[in-house]
Amino acid sequence: MSDLLARAYSPAEFRRHGHALIDQLADYLENVERYPANPYATPEESLEEFRALLGRGAAPEEVFGRVIERSVHLHHPDYMGHQVVPPAPLSALSDVASSLLNTGMAIFEMGRPGTAMERVVIERFAELLELDPGSGGFLTSGGSLANLTALLAARARHGAPGRYCLLVNEHAHYCIERAVRVMGWGEDGIVHVPTDDHLSMRTELIDGLIDEARGRGLTPIALVGSACTTATGTYDPIAALADAAEKHNLWLHIDGAHGAAVRLDPARRHRVDGLERVDSLTLDFHKMLMAPAITTGLFFRRGTDAYRTFQQRADYLLNAADGEGDWSNVARRSFECTKRMLSLRIFTLLSEYGPQLFVDYVRRVGDLGQELATLIRQHPELELFTPPDINIVCFRFRRPDLDTASVNGLNGMIRAHLTEIGQTYIVQTTIDGAVYLRCTLTNAFTTTADLERMLQQVVATGIELLALRRGIGV
Ligand SMILES: Cc1ncc(COP(=O)(O)O)c(C=O)c1O
Repeated sequence: MSDLLARAYSPAEFRRHGHALIDQLADYLENVERYPANPYATPEESLEEFRALLGRGAAPEEVFGRVIERSVHLHHPDYMGHQVVPPAPLSALSDVASSLLNTGMAIFEMGRPGTAMERVVIERFAELLELDPGSGGFLTSGGSLANLTALLAARARHGAPGRYCLLVNEHAHYCIERAVRVMGWGEDGIVHVPTDDHLSMRTELIDGLIDEARGRGLTPIALVGSACTTATGTYDPIAALADAAEKHNLWLHIDGAHGAAVRLDPARRHRVDGLERVDSLTLDFHKMLMAPAITTGLFFRRGTDAYRTFQQRADYLLNAADGEGDWSNVARRSFECTKRMLSLRIFTLLSEYGPQLFVDYVRRVGDLGQELATLIRQHPELELFTPPDINIVCFRFRRPDLDTASVNGLNGMIRAHLTEIGQTYIVQTTIDGAVYLRCTLTNAFTTTADLERMLQQVVATGIELLALRRGIGV
């Protein structure tokens, strides 16, 4: 036996590094506010730093420490950037067990606990989301993959090849268009439904768009709603989409990667009225449900629909005769073959804290969205894009005398400046040619004072940049 192999697999070394790492991470969580929310570095600086670290064979504690220090700090209350949740520590801890056991989850005999927990988690969340009692599904690696898988199921329902297309909000996440391309439907495969001022789909246009698509020789087979859209957090009206889907015999898929969890919040659950009527639903636990990335649930109203998607044989793995209803061999339904034990991340939270934890989280971040909108309205220099449906808020710095190009340039510069300073992390988006600053309030511990401070930074930076611009006469 090589000494090196013996060391790499030594339980004693594992224990030592493990204790040190947990201490490091717990210290980090306790002191996260001592770090900047977004430690700025260029790609080249990062590359050089980590090349050097490897060059001198840094100890694991130093590597972990450096990674902690240089990462964007989602647990920092000034993190208000992209839609990734600061994971609940217990959920993150589950990953250590999952990674070490590394059993894979294609088939039951390789992943017995993971498979059983996956079914429990799916059943529990189908109940919590009040989906149709016949619902079933599985966990998969990401919203993009879940959306593709759902659309493959929609296509499989039709059997015969055809010139298919789907209808979707023009502001839907780009992965829907990517799925259409992957399925080989080409440019014509996606019909964008125009939206209202809030960027919600204008469902009254669907009949006409379907007639038009049919007139061009296409077969519309699916309607895709967003719950909610990525850029602005806008919900499409699911009940109206369900009516249209029934009328035209379309598969209704809801991309609820970010916001389907709003169903848990009594004050905002109406945003997804009709959710029990959809054929399939994507829900990312790593966006609004406190699990590490990436953990996605894909639900089907008729649980057996999940078996339509993939028909490939794998005689070394799956018994062809088992077919539909073979719930315990997850590879039959999921795109992945080997899969992490994703279920443990959620099972542990359910088991230790109960479902109320998720309710509390979803309510809290939804309330924060509301609060930020209220604060924005109080600043004369700031303009809210639209009242937020949930925890995604878009706004911009503006002055009445500035034209669109100047406002766009200015907001781009504000965001770039804040990124370099790194105290707070917000992002930006462009809506119909207008640049907006964008916050996703994903940290339940962000306070009113944090929101106010962020807005003051935005305003102060905008004023400074304007003064500079006037100073140099542009
Ligand atoms: C609405 C929506 N759908 C899908 C995705 C893609 O999800 P994932 O990053 O888990 O693949 C995102 C990501 O931001 C999203 O916001």
